Amino acid sequence: MVVSNRLPVHRVVVDDRKGWEISPGGLVSALLPVLQSRPSTWVGWSGTSETDLEPFMHDGIRNQPVPLTSGEIETFYEGFANRTIWPLYHDAIATPTFRRRWWQPYVSVNQRFAKIATDCTSKGGIMWIQDFHLQLVPAMVRHQRPDIRIGFFLHIPFPPPELFSTLPWRRQILEGFLGADVIGFQTRANAANFRTLARRYAGAVIKGRDLIYQGRTIRVDAFPISIDVGRYHHLAESEEVSKKAIDFRRSLGSARKIVLGVDRLDYTKGIDIRLKAFRELLKTNRIGLEDATFVQVAVPSRERVEEYKELHNKVDQLVGEINGTYGEIGRMPVHYIQRNMRIEELVALYLAADVMLVTPLRDGMNLVAKEYVASRKDNTGVLILSEFAGAAQELKSALIVNPHDIEDLSDSINHAITITNAEEVRRMRALRRVVRNNDVFKWADRFLEILER
Ligand code: F6P
Repeated sequence: MVVSNRLPVHRVVVDDRKGWEISPGGLVSALLPVLQSRPSTWVGWSGTSETDLEPFMHDGIRNQPVPLTSGEIETFYEGFANRTIWPLYHDAIATPTFRRRWWQPYVSVNQRFAKIATDCTSKGGIMWIQDFHLQLVPAMVRHQRPDIRIGFFLHIPFPPPELFSTLPWRRQILEGFLGADVIGFQTRANAANFRTLARRYAGAVIKGRDLIYQGRTIRVDAFPISIDVGRYHHLAESEEVSKKAIDFRRSLGSARKIVLGVDRLDYTKGIDIRLKAFRELLKTNRIGLEDATFVQVAVPSRERVEEYKELHNKVDQLVGEINGTYGEIGRMPVHYIQRNMRIEELVALYLAADVMLVTPLRDGMNLVAKEYVASRKDNTGVLILSEFAGAAQELKSALIVNPHDIEDLSDSINHAITITNAEEVRRMRALRRVVRNNDVFKWADRFLEILER
């Protein structure tokens, strides 16, 4: 049983008929292959305010929809999840909003998820709860059904005590997590933050990597998530994708190097600072249009939330300014695509790109970094990676940057554009080894093995 805010599918309407399609995004691409290999149910919200959806099968998985009213979408999802927890857990890059009227809907939606999920779990079953929308569900499930083995995995960062302590509902959130038998984080630092806070505010006792809480032993550890490496490898080998990569290169013009960014349009991703670093290189004549073209793919996200609207405008403006100032007819320094892309198109872009910029200001893991590496089957390509992405703990052979530092960023882009072939191949080989050795199946096996013990 997997429980997450969203189902792995979303609504599509084709010829006036409603259907479902697999959704993009890290969580889904990570869990789908794992679930397809065993009989499973996924409990989650459909992404709409339809309240009468029946359970249905899609791609071998039973989907159990949880209804959310439009009021709950505003208070639980856009409010508490995306304007309180999301910014707080991402270093308060945007100021977290603590609004008391969002708390009760967060509790009652968590209760609904817990009830629906426990109702479909058999005696002694395994339940794996995902992410920051559902932090209270582990304790709620334990309360109703102590026979269930409960895992919880947080996909986003877990903040240091100084930040987390500001949350008015800190004790309730920690007690929610502590209902689980296994609590997973992306990095060791995240797990250590949690242990410290659980001791401070919930009276748990730290014993190595475990916590002792209310007479139970809870495993709290790092489980760095990954991707389906084989899938990216196969796509990169396919004729369709290779052809598309050549087409992309051709249509991007004659610049020697293609620099790529692929992100959700989110203020944690550092898209604006990255653009400024590229602008700096053009402004100081360290590169010209013939040296590099920057392609930024930004997938619209959480569009009704104010901070996301502001970022949207900021990025539009920057791209316009850079192209207006440094572009020539038929030759633009920045190619900006603001929409979702099919995985085949993405891999083709990964193949076409000489340099991949993954420079979030804070990120739980960042699977795009791993997708790029997995696609670079000829061991070329340079990954520039933020030291504040969870992925930096593993992908140490990338060019590691401080994404807040425009000079560090522009120097690294310049280094990547002018890198020697020997250094490029040495780095990419090492990165590919790391990614191959920990794919998403290993991630899930490791978590489930501990949970099933
Ligand atoms: O990274 C956290 C995450 O919740 C992903 O699992 C998901 O793909 C992404 O953010 C988008 O989130 P939302 O459900 O708000 O569109």
